[in-house]
Amino acid sequence: MKDLKGKVAVVTGGGGGIGKAIGVAFLAQGMKVVLADVVKDLLDEAVLEIGSDDVIGQLTDVTSLDSLCELRDRTIDHFGAVHVICNNAAVGAGATGNVWEHHMNDWKWSLDVNVLGVINGMNAFIPTLVEQDEGHVVNTSSGNGGYTPMASTGIYPVTKAAVTTLTECLWGQLKEVGSNVGASILYPSTQTPGVLATGIWRAGANRPDRYGRGDPAKDADVRDALADYLARAKEAGQEVPVAPLEEVADLCVQAVRDDLFWATYPMDRQTDMLEARTRSMINRTPPEYLIEENLMSADAKERGEQ
Ligand SMILES: NC(=O)c1ccc[n+]([C@@H]2O[C@H](COP(=O)([O-])OP(=O)(O)OC[C@H]3O[C@@H](n4cnc5c(N)ncnc54)[C@H](O)[C@@H]3O)[C@@H](O)[C@H]2O)c1
Repeated sequence: MKDLKGKVAVVTGGGGGIGKAIGVAFLAQGMKVVLADVVKDLLDEAVLEIGSDDVIGQLTDVTSLDSLCELRDRTIDHFGAVHVICNNAAVGAGATGNVWEHHMNDWKWSLDVNVLGVINGMNAFIPTLVEQDEGHVVNTSSGNGGYTPMASTGIYPVTKAAVTTLTECLWGQLKEVGSNVGASILYPSTQTPGVLATGIWRAGANRPDRYGRGDPAKDADVRDALADYLARAKEAGQEVPVAPLEEVADLCVQAVRDDLFWATYPMDRQTDMLEARTRSMINRTPPEYLIEENLMSADAKERGEQ
């Protein structure tokens, strides 16, 4: 979609972090934007802060197809059309222990939001885009899972690997039916080195009751993984800068405008990991590239104490 001016974009998980930044970047392109989020306060604050008639908020739960269909209908009612859907909402469940020990509701919550949420977004919006033969779908994945998994984080990379595979299939099928609708995978990344300081680091925050683990007090006690990481890095004598979310949002705009499938900045470390993974598959050797000291993730003992 070369000309973005006047076009209408929807961003799930748009109440904060990367989603909000994407909304702001689309607005700067002259687009109209619907931010969708399950946390009302975040959403209201974001819409108020942006303060434009071209941006509205819609309370949405991506785990529900009905909610996504309502989002689509409200978008079309309000702005008269829809062209871009960014399936960006995701959670980190803050699971404890190892993959064979996680509470089933940590799996269910993560799979419902991170995977079914993307599928619901695609089902609700893509028929309209295909029918008008114009539009773009951006699904947010992560290098963690989308390229190679950070073994210690278990659930999250499983969901992000699914988003990557899903989007590859989507791209292929759109081509197969001869549609002009584009598809991209966004790997949040920046040219400026640093961490993306967003809500996702507070894994387990805003956990709905239906995904409770039987101990509401423990569920409400959410770890700030970014603060923990920064503390670990400091102890190891490392300075960790914070990278601007605007760069991730610019990547998303570029993906839509230039029909970029792999929306990511090149990262040498990631390239090394991808090559190591491919070599391991081709040579049928164990995934030893996964064994590394990573200050970003908690070790098994610490995970057990979350
Ligand atoms: N921050 C990073 O380092 C990073 C890296 C790679 C990928 N990502 C991905 O970027 C995307 C945005 O995450 P972020 O980092 O901005 O985190 P964030 O927590 O700030 O944003 C996610 C948003 O999704 C919303 N959300 C959660 N459940 C929802 C539901 N059921 N329905 C609707 N909205 C829901 C949250 O309220 C939140 O506002 C996610 O897909 C995440 O996996 C983030």
